[in-house]
Amino acid sequence: MPLARLVSAPSVLNISDLRRAARRRLPRVVFDYVDGGAEAETTLRANPSIYDEVLFRPRAAVAAPRASLETTVLGTRLALPFLLAPVGSTRLLFPKGECEAARAAGAAGTGYILSTLAGTRLEEVKAATTGPCWYQVYLVGGREVASAAIERARAAGYGALVLTVDTAISGLRERDHRNGITELLGANPFAKLRYGWQFLCRPRWLVRYLSDGGLMQFPNVVLPDGPMRYAAVGKALEQSVVTWQDLAWIRELWKGPMVIKGILTADDGRRAVDEGADAVVVSNHGGRQLDGVFPSLRALPEIVAAVGGRTEVLMDGGIRRGGDILKALLLGARAVLIGRAYAWGLGAAGGAGVSRAIEILTADLHRTLRLLGCGSLSELDPSMIELPVGFERARRPLAALSTGSMRSEVGAGVALNEAG
Ligand SMILES: Cc1cc2nc3c(=O)[nH]c(=O)nc-3n(C[C@H](O)[C@H](O)[C@H](O)COP(=O)(O)O)c2cc1C
Repeated sequence: MPLARLVSAPSVLNISDLRRAARRRLPRVVFDYVDGGAEAETTLRANPSIYDEVLFRPRAAVAAPRASLETTVLGTRLALPFLLAPVGSTRLLFPKGECEAARAAGAAGTGYILSTLAGTRLEEVKAATTGPCWYQVYLVGGREVASAAIERARAAGYGALVLTVDTAISGLRERDHRNGITELLGANPFAKLRYGWQFLCRPRWLVRYLSDGGLMQFPNVVLPDGPMRYAAVGKALEQSVVTWQDLAWIRELWKGPMVIKGILTADDGRRAVDEGADAVVVSNHGGRQLDGVFPSLRALPEIVAAVGGRTEVLMDGGIRRGGDILKALLLGARAVLIGRAYAWGLGAAGGAGVSRAIEILTADLHRTLRLLGCGSLSELDPSMIELPVGFERARRPLAALSTGSMRSEVGAGVALNEAG
């Protein structure tokens, strides 16, 4: 069956359907690697559910023709107000998964962010897409190893560097351990056998995985003895925390736009801007790092209020519908990143699945905008959402409007229960 058929309507109508399709195709350990979060998965669950607390207030009886979703991020025009987030090890999901995802993003007119922990050479990924590519940096392997990758990213034409600052150590992803990740990556063949059934249950995935060379390495983390091996990643992350002090030497090396990803408080937002960030990403790493931390949408207004006038604010976490994206834009994000939404698509059907994820969210955006009574993103108005008590609005212009005609201040539209 052609891959696109696996993710077509009516079996796949939304991102949850794509998740189910990925679960059917992937071995459990691989599916859970994408799907899971840290510890009790409290933040993982809170990230998507917080959107339910923010309610729309539409304008009725307005004829809104289908219009452009274009926006500008770091001076680059994008056809859509979302980009594909850095997701490590996507080559486990589908052969050359990074190229498949980048190509699908480019075809839709948006950008792709390549993780340091990719299984494909960064030059090959850049060549696979017609869209913008950014490179996400972890300092795995140390400063020299990271410098070499940054230099390669510059030479290959990556447009921005994304420094992820929420990974002082890898979060405890309990599902991975229960599924035998340690044993599967270890040297004891008897221990591996106990968990090997997961792969035999997914023969179609297994054939593709083996034809792609089996367990990936990290070709953009080149250590003195060659690309970093998969089993080394946990330890390497532990030794590779990015600190504010690192920003200075990275700035020397990289003259293009720099994005700081993993900001959750106003103080850190201000610090990032003071250290020269051209954009920040409000993110809790999709609930994979510090469990019990705010859902990202909850942290967004505080950061927009603190630094939105000085830098571009992006956000990610829990986005499963186009309406979620509009809520983030209404709270002051310039654009958002999607992680699992496209990774599930990749796991379900390769590039066709990523394209389907993008198509679903794009159709949602068009439909929801028109139901709100808006002809374009620039018509979004802060009065179009109602926030729960304690959910502060940022008192500054909406990012999505700041290049267009600004009609009212965020916060000017008074939400009912905000007053209460
Ligand atoms: C399987 C997986 C791997 C990830 N790997 C990285 C990574 O290598 N670097 C990074 O900065 N963020 C990484 N993230 C976090 C994403 O960039 C993004 O912040 C998160 O997925 C957003 O939440 P969402 O999945 O609910 O959309 C990863 C997320 C997932 C699900």
